[in-house]
Amino acid sequence: MVSSTRRTTSSLSATTAAAIAAAAAALMVSVAFATAQYTPATSAAPGAAAAGAAAPYTPGAAGAAPSGPCTSSIILRLDGNLLGTGDLNAYKTNWIEVEHVDNFAINGHGIIDGQGPLVWTHNQCNKNYNCKILPNSLVIDYSTNVTVRGITLKNSKFFHLNIYESKNVVIDKVTITSPGDSPNTDGIHVGDSTNITISSTTIAAGDDCISIGPGTKMVRVNGVRCGPGHGISVGSLGRYKDEKDVEDIIVTNCTIKGTTNGLRIKSYEDSKSQLRATKFLYDGITMDNVSYPIIIDQKYCPNNICSASGTSKVAVTDIVFKNIVGTSATPEAVTLNCANNLPCQGIQLHNVDLKYAGQGNTTLSVCKNVAGKSSNVAKELACV
Ligand SMILES: *[C@@H]1O[C@H](CO)[C@@H](O)[C@H](O)[C@H]1NC(C)=O
Ligand SMILES: *[C@@H]1O[C@H](CO)[C@@H](O)[C@H](O)[C@H]1NC(C)=O
Ligand SMILES: *[C@@H]1O[C@H](CO)[C@@H](O)[C@H](O)[C@H]1NC(C)=O
Ligand SMILES: *[C@@H]1O[C@H](CO)[C@@H](O)[C@H](O)[C@H]1NC(C)=O
Ligand SMILES: *[C@@H]1O[C@H](CO)[C@@H](O)[C@H](O)[C@H]1NC(C)=O
Repeated sequence: MVSSTRRTTSSLSATTAAAIAAAAAALMVSVAFATAQYTPATSAAPGAAAAGAAAPYTPGAAGAAPSGPCTSSIILRLDGNLLGTGDLNAYKTNWIEVEHVDNFAINGHGIIDGQGPLVWTHNQCNKNYNCKILPNSLVIDYSTNVTVRGITLKNSKFFHLNIYESKNVVIDKVTITSPGDSPNTDGIHVGDSTNITISSTTIAAGDDCISIGPGTKMVRVNGVRCGPGHGISVGSLGRYKDEKDVEDIIVTNCTIKGTTNGLRIKSYEDSKSQLRATKFLYDGITMDNVSYPIIIDQKYCPNNICSASGTSKVAVTDIVFKNIVGTSATPEAVTLNCANNLPCQGIQLHNVDLKYAGQGNTTLSVCKNVAGKSSNVAKELACV
């Protein structure tokens, strides 16, 4: 994935329901609004999302509208099909931005369709390191207590959903869908955020299904189906200066199918900042024909853009892979490629059982500079 998290220009800063209504009107879409004065966003339960048409937004409804600033929760219900224009000049940076909004929910059964096929040929990021970044579909920045539930994000121009500098975000029962060969269409990217839950979500993408960037703590991923795509990744780490640690990531009960990578941690060979990737648990993951099911790469260097003399400054420690089963599309089911100047420490493999999906070979592990332990793992895969 290519990082776009540092772009924060606001084009839709939704601080009140009225502002969202106006913005939606500007987008020429049909969206139903429900305001829930003084109701926590968590009241937007799946039942509520499925309960037919929401009440229309009625400013100043009897007994509901306080005077002064709107400090109540906002629930935006999306049931229509929202189409992004193919005219790139129409976008400042991203498409739909939610910034500095606390206690906010989007739910419904609608589709946010970026119409990426109209513009994907304009993406030059595989050729140019400082490429122009196409609009992300839905961006949540500087926000606390946000829920996105039930909706579908389809064919984004760039990332489908980007979460930056936010806290207590729940992504539940969301569907993300784009072709496996669409450029940089990461499903969900999270950066500089804390307490992010992604559950019961299905992601087909042209890049990482989920990518977790620097400065992110306390991520819970449960019940995600990923594929096609590049898997569930932490990183890339070390690309920029002053990146913060990634810590406390738990990924459970997921299925990863037909992707290039499964569970990946990647950091630049010539990292620009010093940070730690630590305390990750991957438990209960089924791989189905994944090219590199388990991969830690401390020497990540796409398109050979790194300086060869680079040394790693990203410490990878205390990473547990437990109950990881299924098949690998290449024999190299476990790859732990760590730097000699900063070996990976505390890497654990427990009950890892990955078979080769092809014919005439078996799976093996390729490991460098790694310390830790294994239990209940075939010796060909148990390199720690
Ligand atoms: C977020 O939700 C929690 C729990 O409902 C609440 O205590 C807190 O004040 C909320 N944060 C903000 C910034 O509204
Ligand atoms: C994490 O976020 C969830 C959902 O918003 C909230 O219920 C929970 O209290 C938060 N946990 C912490 C430690 O803030
Ligand atoms: C596992 O994930 C599925 C969705 O893929 C979900 O329905 C189920 O509740 C999850 N199980 C647990 C134990 O979390
Ligand atoms: C596994 O994936 C490879 C390419 O990644 C593909 O060529 C092969 O047909 C797939 N095998 C199965 C059994 O799906
Ligand atoms: C099995 O896979 C390994 C690693 O890709 C390769 O080096 C080896 O030649 C393969 N063996 C056979 C019999 O194809």
